[in-house]
Amino acid sequence: MTAYRYPDSNVFYRKLGRSYPRIVRGEGCWLYDEQGKDYLDAVGGAYVANLGHSNPEMADALAQQAREFGYLSATAFTHGPAEELAHELAGTLPGDLDKLYFLSSGSEAVEAALKLARQYWVEAGKPGKHRIIALAPSYHGNTLLALSASAREQYKVPFREWLVDVTRIPAPYAYRCECGGESAACPTCSGSALEAAIRRAGADTVAAFIAEPVGGSSTGASTPRPEYFRAIREICDRYQVLFVADEILCGAGRTGTWWAIDQYGAVPDLMTLGKGISGGYAPLSAVAAPRRIVDVIAQGSGSFLHAQTFSFHPVACAAGLAAVRLLKRDRLVERSAALGRVLHERLAGLAELPHVGDVRGRGLLAGIEFVEDKGTRAPFPRAARFAEAFTEAAQQAGLVVWPNVGHADGVNGDLVVVAPPFIIKEREIDQLVTRFRTAHASAVSAIKAGAR
Ligand SMILES: Cc1ncc(COP(=O)(O)O)c(C=O)c1O
Repeated sequence: MTAYRYPDSNVFYRKLGRSYPRIVRGEGCWLYDEQGKDYLDAVGGAYVANLGHSNPEMADALAQQAREFGYLSATAFTHGPAEELAHELAGTLPGDLDKLYFLSSGSEAVEAALKLARQYWVEAGKPGKHRIIALAPSYHGNTLLALSASAREQYKVPFREWLVDVTRIPAPYAYRCECGGESAACPTCSGSALEAAIRRAGADTVAAFIAEPVGGSSTGASTPRPEYFRAIREICDRYQVLFVADEILCGAGRTGTWWAIDQYGAVPDLMTLGKGISGGYAPLSAVAAPRRIVDVIAQGSGSFLHAQTFSFHPVACAAGLAAVRLLKRDRLVERSAALGRVLHERLAGLAELPHVGDVRGRGLLAGIEFVEDKGTRAPFPRAARFAEAFTEAAQQAGLVVWPNVGHADGVNGDLVVVAPPFIIKEREIDQLVTRFRTAHASAVSAIKAGAR
């Protein structure tokens, strides 16, 4: 085998048209490939490695649990890691969200949360409530119900016939909104678009509204106006619609508070957690629910209809428990807020680059949106594949970022997101910015060369 690329290896790679560097070691915010090249992991892989790579306490926690027992079925037994992790998380979650259902991936958690919303209404005697409302742009996962909830048209094309209809309202995405996020009267940015959508659909048909409290990849770390989620809460209460906060990407300290919704003073009915809750040391996600919802099922059918073999996995829960305890002991959520301020101060300088239209975000989550024309905010045409070119150039420059495309109008739009581990140091933030500038210069010259 000469290269790690399809079809030379037996791996069915995620991208079939590129070569993959083979990583042999990670340490803190850094990854090293077999050639010895270093990569500053500025996005924790996929917003996951919040504690950094190769943390020895995490490694010990997993090994310890595997030595006690690696797997048991959650239908028959409970165990220490699930009990203690649920207790630790419940202490951080907003309002009355204190029951935790553990799964593996974010898509599974979204799938489960939406099914729970539906089962709740059926058992509460309102079986007509089935419709889901979600934002555009948005992303909630890749399994079929989670994909249905996602406004990622390019992912859906071959599967359209299998997807369910989801009602869309525009996401509060200041850079692309006519009001620039400045108007309290704007239906999109104030949240009143949700009320109009519920009324159009008929409240007795709407089960749930799902949204990320701070936009992840889809809107490149856009932060809704401060009153947005209080308005959403009031609307959901008025029309008896469950508000599902998807905190898979923006939660677990990423935006400088335990949960991104904390900064809005609103309590969701259900929450999905994932990615960083285990620091990536094991696949772990969860649905958080309050007793007022779970009781309806406890007193009705008696069980939530969402069984999965690897739910409540002991080693994954042990990883989550160790991660949450580390976040608390080392005050890493506070560190995310403090270093987030440094990150945003240093990234602000990127706005002077010729094709950087906007730099935004909160805590250690930042989106950098690229445009062809900064004056009109016109995106590059999709055919230029700027986000992809930037991401490859960044990898060449030893920087890992996360790209997103299509957010400007459903097809065009290029941005990248950075979300470094909470242990990042100031000098590493400076290295991030230097490598970003190098990648930007190469991507711009590659695009210009392609256009000639
Ligand atoms: C907000 C949000 N929800 C759900 C998911 C799906 O998570 P997973 O990829 O673990 O299935 C993602 C993944 O990026 C996400 O960003």
